[in-house]
Amino acid sequence: MSRIYITTPLYYVNAEPHLGSAYTMIITDTLARHYRTNGWEVFYLTGTDEHGDKIAQAAAQAGMDPKPFTDQISATFQAAWDSCGFSYDHFIRTTDAYHVRYVKELLTKVYEAGDIYFDRYGGLYCFGCERFYTEKELVDGKCPDHRTVLELIEEENYFFRMSKYQDRLLRHLEDHPDFIRPEGFKNEVAAMLREPIGDLCISRPKSRLTWGIEIPFDQRYVTYVWFDALINYVSGLKHRGEEFFEKYWPQAEHFIGKDILKPHGIFWPTMLMAAGLPLYKHLNVHGFWTSEGQKMSKSLGNTVSPLEMKERIGMDAFRYFVLRESVFGQDADFREDALTARYNADLANNLGNLVSRVLAMQNKYFSGIVQPLSGDWAKEDHALKEKFVQAETELHRHMEELQFHRALESVWAAIDHANRYIVHTAPFTLFKDPAQRTRVGAVLHHLLEGIRQLSRLLAPFMPDTSKELQRLLGLKEADGAHRVPWGQCFSPGHRIGGSTVLFPRIEPPSEA
Ligand code: MSP
Repeated sequence: MSRIYITTPLYYVNAEPHLGSAYTMIITDTLARHYRTNGWEVFYLTGTDEHGDKIAQAAAQAGMDPKPFTDQISATFQAAWDSCGFSYDHFIRTTDAYHVRYVKELLTKVYEAGDIYFDRYGGLYCFGCERFYTEKELVDGKCPDHRTVLELIEEENYFFRMSKYQDRLLRHLEDHPDFIRPEGFKNEVAAMLREPIGDLCISRPKSRLTWGIEIPFDQRYVTYVWFDALINYVSGLKHRGEEFFEKYWPQAEHFIGKDILKPHGIFWPTMLMAAGLPLYKHLNVHGFWTSEGQKMSKSLGNTVSPLEMKERIGMDAFRYFVLRESVFGQDADFREDALTARYNADLANNLGNLVSRVLAMQNKYFSGIVQPLSGDWAKEDHALKEKFVQAETELHRHMEELQFHRALESVWAAIDHANRYIVHTAPFTLFKDPAQRTRVGAVLHHLLEGIRQLSRLLAPFMPDTSKELQRLLGLKEADGAHRVPWGQCFSPGHRIGGSTVLFPRIEPPSEA
């Protein structure tokens, strides 16, 4: 049986869920649902990253100890994702006992193999990034991310012999051209690997930071937060048993934003090599979202909250917009005017009108009872069915390429076609001629079939809408109706479930 292991980054518990983190959740959730509905075995992992300076400082600011603080924020994250309906299979916390145990096990293994050594090191340290910088990486002598002046720190620490695996990783990239995708990001990592990458400082002295996983061979130190957090991708499987790990690990698909390319593209694979574990299958890297052309930030008040969007336009409409508006791997901009335009054109007009017109006619002309597909199919009936078959074929191809916007475009081409089919067959005119009633019944039957196909095709992207379509058609999920061929789903006398306005139009935001 085909299998896939889908992971998201572990979110830092120092900020609320926002469009950036929600985007990774939306694409991974869509993929997980897509593969599940196609009969794959799927394991979908997400969670929270809870150790390190950043979190210790956020806890201190909240006047709390780190543990109760992380318990609280991690629960908020999980509750937010649950309220968004994301279908993850497991939520891992880096403070979970099994994770802590496994990190220590792995550190010991790598240490005993001689790939971790103790050394004195002096360097420029950014507390925001929790890492040392080389002079070359600085911008105007400051941290390129935080724009702060770095502190010169000199201390003894443990180092991971990352450089030892540099050539091997570069070769792996050359032999597996889609190991990191899209290609631009692979090229970025390959370029980093053509320069010396050095070794990685993987400990922090407790005199400076206590909130971390203790280094198992030296109690005076805790583990560098990245060396701890990355291991979740393995510990999240291992805690379900070795067999479970063996089953899913070869199919690992990591999803991350481009800002954390280096830890995932360089630290993580070299760590896996040192631990004697196979590498993940793919690293899939997405771009960054801005809001109305600007970086999202609390101070600008332009942060897009998934929970607020859910409240305002519904989760499915938000998912649709985010997936349709962006190209995987590229940056995207969240704009209110684009949101309103897409919502009204694609959801209210195209999809919403198709469904309400068909259901209204079915109710008005036949009291909601589906009529048989008697007689020969007309040319346009075949063409309508073909359009949905084509949409499905294209959808599969686009999903393999992570082209979510294209997959939706293909489904919307079928919706357009169905709307044109109504205009072309004109059931509202035909119905006036009593001799044409059978044909009208057949035309509506074909359209109901189209809507049934939509409830299947949209399920990974818009799960609530998919269920609502089934309800409107009077079908139960348990029917297994989606596997039934076109024209064979509605039994004689079947009554549709009612009618509704799926996506009421929204007004453009008023100029404040
Ligand atoms: N804790 C680390 C990841 C450890 S994985 C072992 C981390 N956390 S984060 O909370 O800062 O970021 C989580 C994810 O959100 C990252 O993939 C990051 O790229 C993504 N995003 C944060 N802001 C974003 C946007 N504005 N746009 C798109 N994604 C962005 O990094």
